[in-house]
This record gives sequence, C-alpha cells and structure tokens, in this order.
Amino acid sequence: MDVALPPGMERILFTEEQVAARVREVAAEIDAKYQGRELKLISVLKGSVFFLTALARAITVPVKIDFLGISSFGGPAKDGHSPGLVRIAKDLDEPIDGEDVLLIEDIVDTGFTTRYLLQTLAGRGPNSLAICTLLDRTVRRIVQVPVEFRCFEIPDRFVVGCGLDYRQLYRNLGYIGVMNPDGLGKHS
Ligand code: IMP
Ligand code: MG
Repeated sequence: MDVALPPGMERILFTEEQVAARVREVAAEIDAKYQGRELKLISVLKGSVFFLTALARAITVPVKIDFLGISSFGGPAKDGHSPGLVRIAKDLDEPIDGEDVLLIEDIVDTGFTTRYLLQTLAGRGPNSLAICTLLDRTVRRIVQVPVEFRCFEIPDRFVVGCGLDYRQLYRNLGYIGVMNPDGLGKHS
C-alpha cells in the first residue's frame, strides 16, 4: 500500500514492517545475551521511547524501564543534528548499582551524546552497561562508543520517524524516512 509522504520527505528508508522485523531479531539477540538475568532498559527522552516500547515488548527476559531526559545546549545545528553538548535535564527515578543496564538510543551519530551518557551511567556502579541503538550512522562518528546492539546502519542523510524528529515532528511515523528540510521552503 502506498503511504502519502509528508512535505520534505524524500523517501522511505525502512518500512514499518522492516523495522518491526529487525526489532524482533535484536530482541532475540538481547534475550540470548541476558538469559537468566534481569535487565534495566534506560531510554533517552524523547527519541528512543518508541524504540524502547517496541523492544521491551519483544524481549522475554524480565525487564525494568527508566527514563533520562537530556537537553542540548548551544542550540540545534542548522541541519537539526545535535551540536554535541548535552546535560541531564531529567534524571533516572531509580539507582542502577548492581544492575545489568542497556542504554536504548534512537540514533548514535557523532557519538558525543552516547559517550556522555555512558560515562555518567558507568559512574553509578551498574553490574554491566551496554548500548542498543535503533540507528547507527558510523560515517559521522567523531568519538568512538561501543555499540553492542543495532537495528540498522544508515547513510549520511537526516532521517525521521520511529521516534526521531525534525523540529519535534514526525516522531510518530512507523517508518524511517529521509527528510530533506530544504524541500520545505519557508517552513524549513
Ligand atoms: P550525537 O550526539 O551526534 O550522536 O547525536 C545524537 C542525537 O542527535 C540523537 O539522539 C538525535 O536526537 C539527534 N540526531 C542525530 N541525527 C539525527 C537524524 O538524522 N534525525 C533526527 N535526529 C538526529
Ligand atoms: Mg534525540
């Protein structure tokens, strides 16, 4: 079935069905690694919330969830990418010491956000700490971070959907699409 694409959306990179299938595969990898253990999934607001819920539903080992809110300072870059400077705006509700923690990301891009979060969480004494991301854009990586689970590697294009936004819009799209903000004219 054809989907009507919103203005500025160039093409669909991964359909809703492809995303759902890949999420199930990654959930199975996570189940295999954490068999017999309890997992704490930590979601970074707001981008990774959609991925977190889909993943949590597909994982069969017992999971707990918690949320971190971050804010970037310096303002968003022109292309909407994070400028790399972040701080915690909303902290976790519970401690994570002694827990097996999986940090759930929407996208690992330059790696700055993820590295900052990893360092912060590592300092709180978890039993283990790993990263699971929906999207990985390694071509733009500036700082190295160990990505243990990833659904998709993506090209160097700005994407939206499945939690990812352009100016807070399009997070609720079930597919992942390539957005070209220049195509939006005066609204870009
Ligand atoms: P990093 O610190 O450069 O790795 O950026 C990570 C954050 O930048 C993500 O959590 C997103 O909020 C944002 N971001 C990076 N690339 C995209 C994109 O293609 N679409 C939407 N948001 C993005
Ligand atoms: Mg984000």
